[in-house]
Amino acid sequence: MLKNYDVVAVGSGNIDLIFRVPRLPGNDDKVVGEKIAESPGGTVANSACMMATLGLKVISLSSAGDDRYGESIINDFARHGVETKYIQINPGQSPNMAIIILDDSGEKSLIYAPGNHCEWDQETAFNAIGASKVMYTMPGDLEKYAIQAKYARSQGTKVAVDIEPHIATNKQQMADILNLADIAIFNRDGFIASSKCDPDWPVLHAMRRKYSLSALVVTCGAKGVMAVTEDEEAEHPGFRVPVVDTTGAGDIFNAAFIYSWIHHYPLRSAVEFSCAAAALNIMKLGARGQLGRPEEIERFISSANREV
Ligand SMILES: Nc1ncnc2c1ncn2[C@@H]1O[C@H](COP(=O)(O)OP(=O)(O)O)[C@@H](O)[C@H]1O
Ligand SMILES: [Mg+2]
Repeated sequence: MLKNYDVVAVGSGNIDLIFRVPRLPGNDDKVVGEKIAESPGGTVANSACMMATLGLKVISLSSAGDDRYGESIINDFARHGVETKYIQINPGQSPNMAIIILDDSGEKSLIYAPGNHCEWDQETAFNAIGASKVMYTMPGDLEKYAIQAKYARSQGTKVAVDIEPHIATNKQQMADILNLADIAIFNRDGFIASSKCDPDWPVLHAMRRKYSLSALVVTCGAKGVMAVTEDEEAEHPGFRVPVVDTTGAGDIFNAAFIYSWIHHYPLRSAVEFSCAAAALNIMKLGARGQLGRPEEIERFISSANREV
């Protein structure tokens, strides 16, 4: 099938309610805080907005309700240049919601509550997948992922996955995901929860080889990232920036990494570019606080590297 799009981002948006508190509440405890924002988020949706900001042609394969939340989710995709025509609107669908709690540490605590029946039909999914060079997803539903990823591979569409700890909690689930993937990006907790190993170079290389991945990446929050491909390995310590809100750090990193991969960046440049994209975003409030265009990210890298 003709590839009219760079990426199909498979996963629905959600609504983030962001609160600031002096400290996290304990059990049977009450803390007076402040609600500072209500904004569209969602891991894959954040990445979709970032990839479009970088200049990729991106489709969202997702669903939304017909209420004000659904409208706000769709409008924000459109504002960032994500193609919304494949988004299925389900009357009465309640949105996925996240409560994000920020204390003085700069790190977030997050409660995620999936909405109801966030479905879309298979024909729409296959059309969107077939029309894209890369399918990017966080495989929350392994059965659905397997169907979509197998179809993607039959159409020459590469499969890229984001793996957090709740996505794969054992080696079998991880294998089921990676056997159908080309690019795997874990956060550190996700890597440990699924592989039962700490991320080190021999483990990363062995895993990449075992599942014939083009690239395997492990992001380690403020400690940066490690990545391997068939003939390269690269790490980056992350950029030291004044952190306001780390929500979406991984999503923005992943989007920039997919962009770098599509544009054949050397791995070392890809990890630097992606860490810089994430660093820019965490200096502002919200999962989509500061999505940089390529030239803005390059400028940030030049000035950060001049400082050291
Ligand atoms: N406190 C931080 N300071 C600088 N960079 C950060 C910080 N937190 C995250 N990052 C950047 O974002 C990337 C992804 O963050 P990480 O926390 O590993 O993912 P996730 O948000 O999925 O848990 C890191 O590899 C790093 O480049
Ligand atoms: Mg993440």
